[in-house]
Amino acid sequence: MKAHLITYGCQMNEYDSHLVQSQLVSLGADMVDSIDAADFVLINTCAVRGKPVDKVRSVLGQLRKEKALRPLVIGMMGCLAQLEEGQQIARKFEVDVLLGPGSLLDIGKALESNQRFWGLNFKDELHDHIPPPPTGKLQAHLTIMRGCDHHCTYCIVPTTRGPQVSRHPDLILRELDSLLGAGVKEVTLLGQNVNAYGFDAGAKLAGYPSFAELLRMVGASGIQRIKFTTSHPMNFTEDVAAAMGETPAVCEFVHLPVQSGSDRVLRRMAREYNREKYLTHIAQIRKHMPEAVLATDIIVGFPGETKEDFQETLSLYDEVGYDSAYMFIYSPRPGTPSYQHFQDLPREVKTERLQRLIAVQKDWSAKKNARFQGSVQEVLLRGDAYSEGHLEGHTRGNHPIVVPKALGAVGAGLYQARVTATTPHMLYGELVGVDGQTLPMVPNFLPEAAALSSPLTML
Ligand code: 5AD
Ligand code: SF4
Repeated sequence: MKAHLITYGCQMNEYDSHLVQSQLVSLGADMVDSIDAADFVLINTCAVRGKPVDKVRSVLGQLRKEKALRPLVIGMMGCLAQLEEGQQIARKFEVDVLLGPGSLLDIGKALESNQRFWGLNFKDELHDHIPPPPTGKLQAHLTIMRGCDHHCTYCIVPTTRGPQVSRHPDLILRELDSLLGAGVKEVTLLGQNVNAYGFDAGAKLAGYPSFAELLRMVGASGIQRIKFTTSHPMNFTEDVAAAMGETPAVCEFVHLPVQSGSDRVLRRMAREYNREKYLTHIAQIRKHMPEAVLATDIIVGFPGETKEDFQETLSLYDEVGYDSAYMFIYSPRPGTPSYQHFQDLPREVKTERLQRLIAVQKDWSAKKNARFQGSVQEVLLRGDAYSEGHLEGHTRGNHPIVVPKALGAVGAGLYQARVTATTPHMLYGELVGVDGQTLPMVPNFLPEAAALSSPLTML
């Protein structure tokens, strides 16, 4: 079998794709990198907004045409697969294999059965399954929990991924060990709400550590960089900020989605915190980790958001000064409480607010990134070429950075780079050291770099 896997959505989905890919390979499949070369195409889907759903529809349309011309098995997995909406789409586009996020290990069974197979259970057997480390990569994801116990009114995730289940700490540490053995230097701990790790009933009963304790445990493993995503402000405690500050491997980066600056909107979103509480968390992070780079998520144009509410979001931006933000227009998702009970705002209102917010964030990102000018940053180069002669990587603060290839530093690894130019979207630098040792001087590539346009459109 020649299998091709297409992944949409968040890092959780990337992790799941890696897991399923390792299952497929162990079943004897060859992974191929185009639809044309494949006889099994599997799409890992996202359902969080309308756009990723539209994307899946269009790829499935293409696949259905292919299937009319040659033997082809079509598979759909992930969040959309779990929803009635996804199952309707699957019927329409003649999907053969459908696997919800809790049924991924059924992939073998699905391919064996020579008929349509739909696996839609909420199971936690996945938690015991340790996928092999990614080959040749320095960065890896590590799932520490699945699902979410919150019920934000706009969010489909509790429906697609079910209630929160923390993974056993021994399994987490064992997977971490195998990542370390494979040469991984940066691990991102994944969960819908990592701060709530250990707080679900089963985990409490079994005496799992808290997220702060887990951070310290992972920090003691010898891994060089730890990042985590994503955090819910409701479950953020000062102990987490303290663990971040005192664990050297934890990177100076926090993604703390606020969603709105207006208490009225936060209440309608059922976010379970208010602006003041959120600002307390920001203050705690800054107290324990003064250099922390801050990122957030914002939903613009939530139903009933007035001009004044939106103004509150703008003023929160100026109060916090985010380094970066993922900004989304509210997308009504069938099955969510806000879809059922609230009236969507006109598209023009939402778009205009998003444009204004993007402009404000761009100014903040420009200002925040400029503070790194001339500084030396630890950079993890993934080995991918940004352009001929340039490599790309990430700083500890999660900034994308581009550096010229240099003598003795042409591949993946941890390096020191001096920042020579900044834009709102990224940093440009020159390599000055590798793993703590100084490199021979390399030519400054600033004139060329300035001519490169940023590939990132989302701030
Ligand atoms: N509409 C727009 N954005 C959404 N998000 C989640 N649900 C919706 C929705 N219905 C955003 C939130 C979340 C991020 C992953 O996606 O900002 O933090
Ligand atoms: Fe990830 Fe949420 Fe999209 Fe599922 S719906 S893939 S959890 S972003």
